[in-house]
Amino acid sequence: MKKPIRKAVFPVAGLGTRFLPATKAIPKEMLPIIDRPLIQYAVDEAREAGIEQLIFVTGRGKTSIVEHFDTAFELEATMQGRGKNLDVLAPTRIQPGNLVTVRQQVPMGLGHAIWCARAIVGDEPFAIFLPDELMIGRPGCMAQMVEAYNEVGGNLISVLEVPEEEVSSYGVIAPGKRLEHDLTEVVGLVEKPRRGEAPSNLIISGRYILQPEVMRTLESQGAGAGGEIQLTDAMAKMIGTQPFHAVTFAGRRFDCGNHLGFVEATLALALERPDMGDDVRAMARRLLDL
Ligand code: UTP
Repeated sequence: MKKPIRKAVFPVAGLGTRFLPATKAIPKEMLPIIDRPLIQYAVDEAREAGIEQLIFVTGRGKTSIVEHFDTAFELEATMQGRGKNLDVLAPTRIQPGNLVTVRQQVPMGLGHAIWCARAIVGDEPFAIFLPDELMIGRPGCMAQMVEAYNEVGGNLISVLEVPEEEVSSYGVIAPGKRLEHDLTEVVGLVEKPRRGEAPSNLIISGRYILQPEVMRTLESQGAGAGGEIQLTDAMAKMIGTQPFHAVTFAGRRFDCGNHLGFVEATLALALERPDMGDDVRAMARRLLDL
């Protein structure tokens, strides 16, 4: 019997240097795509997948992320007094006790951030969400992964195909046997491979389901690519000791950690919204002189 995925870790302690100066006083994860911050999209996706406990790995200057999911008494009382509908705040409500924060005092890398959550994760499999990767799909990416997990168990990562010249910026998988339901066996993993040395053009895309043993591997993990403690290196060591599969996400992914991806996500989501899509299309035509 597979243990259910009840907990999710959201590493949000990074410095967000690619978005400076915007991220000097505002966490990258609070940058909005239209009217919802990035972290909200990730939390919505987690809930849809049946995740109960949210574990935020935070750092200095990140308190607004936690406040976003708190009750804002003054705001709500004022809105109520003015007869305004509070439904818009519904996604920010978390069941008491279901949001836990731990601190990563120094941003030493994604692997280190995940390891900081070890005591809360305990001895059960857990999900990981990188909130700056916005995944749009029906069902959502994590729901698709949980479905696959219920079949094969073990460890799962979400992957997508990118042009060969882009692989050096990401974690890349060495694919093994292709199974049904967009599932591929993972036989190796490399973080930010040099051009020409990547085992495939399938990159890890910000969503993971991992077994708790990864915490023990991270415990003794030294720095890898970029001088950071890399999650990819720890996962690579687990291959062969536990089942490891990649799920090709049926949906769209926007890398909102860089400027172009952020703009693309904003435009794509705005075009789809019934309340503004037509106006945005007309505006884009005007701007493009079409
Ligand atoms: P990124 O490398 O995309 O985020 O990490 P960053 O370091 O904040 O951004 P840049 O490169 O300086 O612009 C992916 C995720 O991992 C978290 C980040 O907050 C982001 O959600 N992270 C990264 C940590 O929590 N701790 C770290 O030490 C590194």
